[in-house]
Amino acid sequence: MTRIGIVTASTRPSRIGHHVAAWVLDLAPEGVEPVGIDLRELALPFLDEPELPSDGRYAHEHTRRWSETVTGLDAVVLVMPEYNRGYNAALKNAIDYLYAEWDGMPVACVGYGWSGARYARSALRQTLERVGMVVVDGAALHLEKTLDPDGTVRADDAAVADVRSMFAALVAAATARERVAAHR
Ligand SMILES: Cc1cc2nc3c(=O)[nH]c(=O)nc-3n(C[C@H](O)[C@H](O)[C@H](O)COP(=O)(O)O)c2cc1C
Repeated sequence: MTRIGIVTASTRPSRIGHHVAAWVLDLAPEGVEPVGIDLRELALPFLDEPELPSDGRYAHEHTRRWSETVTGLDAVVLVMPEYNRGYNAALKNAIDYLYAEWDGMPVACVGYGWSGARYARSALRQTLERVGMVVVDGAALHLEKTLDPDGTVRADDAAVADVRSMFAALVAAATARERVAAHR
């Protein structure tokens, strides 16, 4: 089984991100164990660790818990909105908390917004690569086309195909990573 974290990045009280995450989760193929992760429930404060995350010495229980959650995953899907042509702050904060945990971890973004979160996904890519994640193609939902403003997903075949390809790419990348680790 490949354990893939499906992260709901939005924390707004009136968010629709959890509907998008549920849609992604339902498309997980056999052989994938999807693990729902909600940044609102995780409720990390703004980064409050005294040491650099790259030192890996965590003073706070909330950081150790987050570290354990991520370490238990084989890959991650970031279900993310676009805010002012960027990604949301809670997502960046959750990434910044850790460092070694991300190294080599396959990741994909499912963005949603008026332009399918094109700007947010493009901006986030640099951060994901900086922490050593292996970025594979994700998917996008467009408001008032494939996603209603209330969160109802009306995905066309292309969007569904993108999510299926995304899962296949994540499984392939996670399997390759495991093989390399086994030969070390
Ligand atoms: C602060 C803020 C800024 C936004 N900026 C953008 C934007 O730049 N591009 C876009 O496509 N949608 C933008 N939107 C609209 C969001 O795509 C839409 O509200 C979406 O539902 C947000 O996801 P969420 O409900 O899961 O938080 C913005 C929404 C908020 C709250």
